[in-house]
Amino acid sequence: MSHLSEKILKYLSENDTVNTLTLAKLFNEDHQKIIGALKSIQANGDLVTADQKAEKAIEVTDEGKHISENGSHEATIYKAVPDSGIAQADLMKLPNAKVGFSKAMSAGWITLDKTCTPPLVRRKVPEITDIVQDHLKQVILGDSSKISDKEKQDYKKRKLIQEVVIKSFDLKKGPEFSLSLTKLETDLTTEMLNSGSWKNLKFKEYNFDALGVPPECGYLHPLLKVRSEFRQIFLEMGFCEMPTNNYIENSFWNFDALFQPQQHPARDAHDTFFISDPKTSNKFPMDYLERVKRVHSKGGYGSQGYGYDWKIEEAQKNLLRTHTTAVSARMLYKVAQQKEFRPIKLFSIDKVFRNETLDATHLAEFHQVEGVIADFNLNLGDLIGVFAEFFRKLGITQLDFKPAYNPYTEPSMEIFCFHPGLKKWIEIGNSGIFRPEMLLPMGLPEDVCVIAWGLSLERPTMIKYGFNNIRDLVGPKVDLEMVQKSPICRLSK
Ligand code: PHE
Repeated sequence: MSHLSEKILKYLSENDTVNTLTLAKLFNEDHQKIIGALKSIQANGDLVTADQKAEKAIEVTDEGKHISENGSHEATIYKAVPDSGIAQADLMKLPNAKVGFSKAMSAGWITLDKTCTPPLVRRKVPEITDIVQDHLKQVILGDSSKISDKEKQDYKKRKLIQEVVIKSFDLKKGPEFSLSLTKLETDLTTEMLNSGSWKNLKFKEYNFDALGVPPECGYLHPLLKVRSEFRQIFLEMGFCEMPTNNYIENSFWNFDALFQPQQHPARDAHDTFFISDPKTSNKFPMDYLERVKRVHSKGGYGSQGYGYDWKIEEAQKNLLRTHTTAVSARMLYKVAQQKEFRPIKLFSIDKVFRNETLDATHLAEFHQVEGVIADFNLNLGDLIGVFAEFFRKLGITQLDFKPAYNPYTEPSMEIFCFHPGLKKWIEIGNSGIFRPEMLLPMGLPEDVCVIAWGLSLERPTMIKYGFNNIRDLVGPKVDLEMVQKSPICRLSK
């Protein structure tokens, strides 16, 4: 029970009425503390009645406080004038000299002697009283009775004082007046119900004005925010999402199905993370595997193949998928198994893994955004057309292409876009038309073409959110507050 509340009750038992501001002065306490104590008394019942009063009062501004401590601007000017006088220009170098000079002039404290060159400011009276300073000191002490209304008006205009409304309460004994507070119960317990003691207890009222506890919630990482924007674009363009829930893949789908020869350097442990347990996969569509083996070693479908000794042991090796094109290969094989081919547009956005040397722009795991369109007689023009539309929705309109090489696409193109912020062309993706050596062994009809492209999710995210180092975006050094505060992603369309 608060000591202050009891003091208030005791005072009221001896006096009929009192204002809270008077109590604050009397007890030498902050007025807010008196109000707090009053609230706890009121929570106990009708011990006191309180009538709110709003009174206008004046208080000094920061400038007024400064003057109350250091003297008015005019007094400062007066004090700066030596007996021999001072050049006006020198006097005006003092702070607040303009106001001070004109006030001191109109008060008749100083004069300007224009017979000299330059004109000299001289004292006109031997001494002054700084009334402004005195008045402001009085306001601070809470007594402005000696200041005339005209003077108050003037100080207000000079922004030395301001009017404020002070809310207080007039207190009287209430119908349930008592000298002490009972402790209020905050919980209704089983014991109270069983013993019936609740009937005689006082319960604390709910405080519906209390500030709420901010709810805890999770936050989306910027990569996820950009991912939902990409997903939205694909969906708007009629693409279906591929199931990418297998980080572990085998070499057959990651490489062989994509006509990537078994001695290709990317299939080396320097570039790929191989899995040691389980080391191999052994379930494959065997007839398809045979066709893949044949096209690699002997050729077929109009191709001469690579002419090497293809080994199933190499295809069986498990790894962390190095690109989402492994997923696309699985999907295209599935599409090829349908009775009748139907054009299809597919996309995926998920993680891939590469044994990279880590630096400011490379990590050993990152996300790929991949699009695949399978239809009759598609060509390079269709590929460029789809890009124009896809990247336009990303807010990128300046595109350029460079011939490239992938084992699974022909032709292949690197995609560049002009970055207006960096003022240069940057590579954002890779693309191409899948080779017949990849599609025909799957069983797709000969006149079906598949165009595809892939890009990283990290690069556009870094550009969008202004990161120069990928470690600020992903990994143990990420600032969690960054994740909480990063805005939602809106790609300019
Ligand atoms: N798989 C390629 C990569 O990892 C991207 C790509 C996808 C290229 C589809 C062509 C077609 O960079």
